[in-house]
Amino acid sequence: MEYEFRQLREEELPAWFDHLATVFAHVGREYFMNHWYQDPWANLAGIEVAVRQGEIAATVRTFQRAVHMGCAQVRMGGIGEVSTKEAHRRKGLSGRLLESALHNMWADKVGVSVLFTGNVAHYQRHGWEIVKAERWRYSGLPVTLPGAMDVQVRPINYAYDIESVAAIYDRTSAAFAGPLARSMPYWWNWLRAKHAKTLVAEKDGQILAYLLTNRREDQLQIEEFGVKPEAVGALIALMNAVLEPAADAPKSMLMPAALRQTLADALQALPTPPERNEQKIMCRVVNPVALAQQMRPVWVKRLQAAGWRGALVLDTGMGSCCLRMDDAGLNIGAAEQADAVDVPKATFSHEEFINLLYGNGDAAEIGRCTTPAARTAVQALFPAVIHTWWPADGF
Ligand SMILES: CC(C)(COP(=O)(O)OP(=O)(O)OC[C@H]1O[C@@H](n2cnc3c(N)ncnc32)[C@H](O)[C@@H]1OP(=O)(O)O)[C@@H](O)C(=O)NCCC(=O)NCCS
Repeated sequence: MEYEFRQLREEELPAWFDHLATVFAHVGREYFMNHWYQDPWANLAGIEVAVRQGEIAATVRTFQRAVHMGCAQVRMGGIGEVSTKEAHRRKGLSGRLLESALHNMWADKVGVSVLFTGNVAHYQRHGWEIVKAERWRYSGLPVTLPGAMDVQVRPINYAYDIESVAAIYDRTSAAFAGPLARSMPYWWNWLRAKHAKTLVAEKDGQILAYLLTNRREDQLQIEEFGVKPEAVGALIALMNAVLEPAADAPKSMLMPAALRQTLADALQALPTPPERNEQKIMCRVVNPVALAQQMRPVWVKRLQAAGWRGALVLDTGMGSCCLRMDDAGLNIGAAEQADAVDVPKATFSHEEFINLLYGNGDAAEIGRCTTPAARTAVQALFPAVIHTWWPADGF
């Protein structure tokens, strides 16, 4: 009997939850129901299934999202719920569903796809590559960091504080590459339970910073922070509240590179240098032309600042796009439209390209550029920025 490959039907949702609970028995059905019902962008068209004799044998789900890339937002397809029942494995079902998800995302003008896995090889076969996100572990705690502002530190009151926290989030996250673009329904449905332990710093009735941490035995994990640029001292006050010397004070803390950069001066108070700890995320360019078009707001500014004019074919290792910058602005199209002979080219392996996109590569060092002008454009387009992913957005 052949497998049928198609999208899930609404009446099959209970059977789909059962399928996920069977394959991921340690996780349980409720987790996947929450993923579905708490997702404001949940969309049946994002669920691919392989069905045989009325039974779901395998599935892949695409989470419809967008990510901040500086002041641009790129459409992102998150891949999750990847599962094949044991009896149906090693027949290419999951691979076929992933390819189908990629095809749909491409048609839907999704720029990049992101996923989290311990099974890197399964996704590398279909084009995803590891992109690094640095975290840093500091020991030598407890400590009181210098430079704290005099603020009131209190637990978040979701209904009262959420608009202010969301505004701080947007501003903080837009400075980095990769954080999710969040909507108010997403804050309410997806994040509310996960953000229950958030602390806020308030002064004169204004929220200046927030901090979300998670304690794992002796280690404090900083999961997320946001701060108004002029109020870093408020964030330091929040840090001191969670690091407070006490009998059960944490002995070490793990923080994203974004926080290390934001608190660079205060962290010098710690007695030992931090150890690097890499979080591995997989990413794939899906539709390079759509990606470039979505990056346009930041790419225009960067090319203007570099005084760059001209044309460039950018090969992402997963397809190309053509950029043309003149007095009328930045025009982005398919590479096939470019005159292939005359246009300078910048060519990257896919792994090189996604690391450049996420700020992890030195644009002067990697890739192959056919002219010095192409190199200038690449250096302008891909400055070093910090790649950040907040755990609460995980899927
Ligand atoms: C990971 C998982 C989804 C793979 O599902 P699958 O349908 O077996 O995947 P595929 O068939 O596409 O590929 C699996 C393997 O079969 C091989 N394969 C594909 N078609 C094949 C065929 N016709 N004949 C023989 N082997 C085949 C692939 O090359 C791959 O080999 P490898 O793992 O040795 O490199 C499945 O094992 C699973 O559900 N695991 C538990 C849940 C899990 O870990 N999910 C991923 C979380 S991120």
